[in-house]
This record gives sequence, structure tokens and C-alpha cells, in this order.
Amino acid sequence: EQAEKNGYDHFMLKEIFEQPTALRKTMTGRLDQEAKRVDFEELQWSPETIQQWNKITIVACGTAYHAGLIGKHVIEELTRIPVDVEVASEFRYRRPIIDEKTLVIVVSQSGETADTLAAMRQSQRLGANVLAITNVVGSSIAREADEVILTMAGPEIAVASTKAYTTQVLSFYLLGLYLAESKQTVTEQKYKQLIESIIELPEKIEGMLEHSQGIRWYSDSIKDAKSVFFLGRGLDHAVALEGSLKLKEISYIHSEAYAAGELKHGTLALIEEGTPVIALITQDEVSEKMLGNVKEVKARGAQVLGVAEEGNLDIWEYVDETCYIPNTPSILTPLLTVIPLQLIAYYTSLALGNDVDKPRNLAKSVTVE
Ligand code: G6P
Repeated sequence: EQAEKNGYDHFMLKEIFEQPTALRKTMTGRLDQEAKRVDFEELQWSPETIQQWNKITIVACGTAYHAGLIGKHVIEELTRIPVDVEVASEFRYRRPIIDEKTLVIVVSQSGETADTLAAMRQSQRLGANVLAITNVVGSSIAREADEVILTMAGPEIAVASTKAYTTQVLSFYLLGLYLAESKQTVTEQKYKQLIESIIELPEKIEGMLEHSQGIRWYSDSIKDAKSVFFLGRGLDHAVALEGSLKLKEISYIHSEAYAAGELKHGTLALIEEGTPVIALITQDEVSEKMLGNVKEVKARGAQVLGVAEEGNLDIWEYVDETCYIPNTPSILTPLLTVIPLQLIAYYTSLALGNDVDKPRNLAKSVTVE
């Protein structure tokens, strides 16, 4: 096992560091860096098929569900097709409104999650076309889906998913651009600009990982906390959910993620003197609103770590500590914002002496209900 860890103390850390490579591999053959075009040779849809979809439903569990939440934002923004996202265990036990005009996207690292598999079969029975985004060739989901996008993360061993998540998110960016080009819902300029920015992401993540130790102090400061709250709006809310899940999975610290605008409707009551709050402030359109929310929690004594893009100096007067991510278009920030959150979860678990790779009560793949 030591040999497999390739010099890293844990599989999770190794997998965090493998993300730039995993992302590059997932781009290969799908993103032409010269021509700046996205193409999925593996997808058999005709332009007419794409044109007929009036709705997309994304179904998944756990971290893959969180990737789906990013997928919703991205696909809606780029294609204007309405997208629902649902956890598979809920979807399968109601009467979902799905038909031949629906594209169902199931997302699963393992390709074996029982609820996701059942949701997929149910969607197919109802006539939907099912696209699977999965990491395992030959898995049940990969075999039974109508279409497959294989994420090229390589084997993921740590229970807490990292590189599978980022390759799923990348797949949604590429898919969004692919559908948008087919439907002509994005300008050539925006299309090319996003592709250029996507190509730069692995290198930006490498740069962030070179300073991975820089966030370690923060884990020491939250390791004895009763609760840690994550706040964000829009795409930042989706990333907040993933950051919070990572932290609770392996540190066992109670954590919740909130759409920052919902604070007043409940969570604010839980903020006490010294409560750690991680505020994600990367979405330009709502950053003013986020700063307002930061003020609200600060006024109740919260200790706030603000995560924002480099050069955003405005946050200094609002937050206690800052963590910067490299600049990229707002729609792409999730792939960068999640990196410090993965590291915070990792170092906190380590500081508490937990079994980072095999957290109590959890399994890598949930093949029974
Ligand atoms: C388990 C794993 C999670 C994963 C979820 C869905 O809970 O611990 O990391 O996100 O299952 O798994 P899947 O293989 O379908 O992505």
C-alpha cells in the first residue's frame, strides 16, 4: 500500500495532487487546444436529437451530486435548457416527469452506486436518453447507459472523493460547450474564451498545490470547533456544499453549507463568538451581496475566512483571513475554489488523528441501499 501511495502519506493527498493530470487526461481527445473546439467523438447524438430535448435531469449521490449542481449552472447558462438536479435516492421513489424529450445525466465515480443505477434504469424505462459521466469503464452504469463520458481520473482509493469530482465538473464544462455550439446559444467569442481559460486550469491548480501547506494553519484553527459553516451564492453555494461534505466526512466536525441569502432564515441563530465561517466570494455578480452576508455573521462574532480571486482587495475590510485563488471567468471558479477546501478537510482530519482515507461508517462505493 505504501508503494501505491507513491510517497504521499495518504491516498487522499495523492489524489488531490493528481488533479492537474486527471483534468488534462479528461480533456484529451475532447478539447482541441489548437483549434479551440470541443468535440465528443464518443457521443452519438445528432443535432436533431440535441434540439429535441426540452429538459435535462441530472441524477447522482454524494459528491457526484455536488458536481451535478455545478453542471446545472453551467448547462443552463450556456444552453438555456432547463436543468433539474436530484439525489438518486429521492428521484427513484417518486414519479419523475421524464420522457423521450428529456436527457438524463447520471454521474457516478464508481458506476455502481445502487440508487444511481436504479434511477438510470427507471429513466430508460420512461423513454429518456441517458448519458453517464463515470470513472469506471465496464461498470454497471457505463455498460447500461445509452451514452458515456468517461472521466479520466484513474483509480480513486480515498473514500473522500477529490479528483473524480473535479473531472466530473470539467466534463460538465465540456458538455455544456458542446451542447451550446450545437444549439448555437453561445457566441464564438465566449466559446473560445472559455476554452482558453479551461486549458489554463490544470496549470493554475498546480500553482495552488505548490503552496498547499499555506492553508495548514487554518485547519489547526478549526480542529476543535463545534461547527464550521460554509457560505456562498450561485456556483459558490454548490462548491460550499462540497467543501462542507469533505470536512464532515473525514474530520467528523459538524458542518453545513448555506446559500448565503438563507442565513437570516435560520443559520444565523447558530453563529456564536468564534464560530468559523468559510465564505466563498468568487462570483462577481453577487459579491456585494456576499460581503453583506459576511457582515451579518461577523456582527454575531463569527471568525471568517474569505475565499476570493487574487486582486480582490475589497474583502480585506470584511473578513478575518483570506485565501486567494487565481483569476478565471466566474463560471470556472469552482474547479479552483474547491482545492483549498479539499486541503482544509485533509489537514483537519490529519490534525485530529483520524483515518483520513477510511473515515468511520463510510464506504467508497454504496452498492446496496
Ligand atoms: C459514497 C462515496 C462518495 C461518493 C458517493 C457516490 O458515498 O463515499 O465519495 O460521492 O458514494 O458514489 P459514486 O461512485 O456514485 O460517485
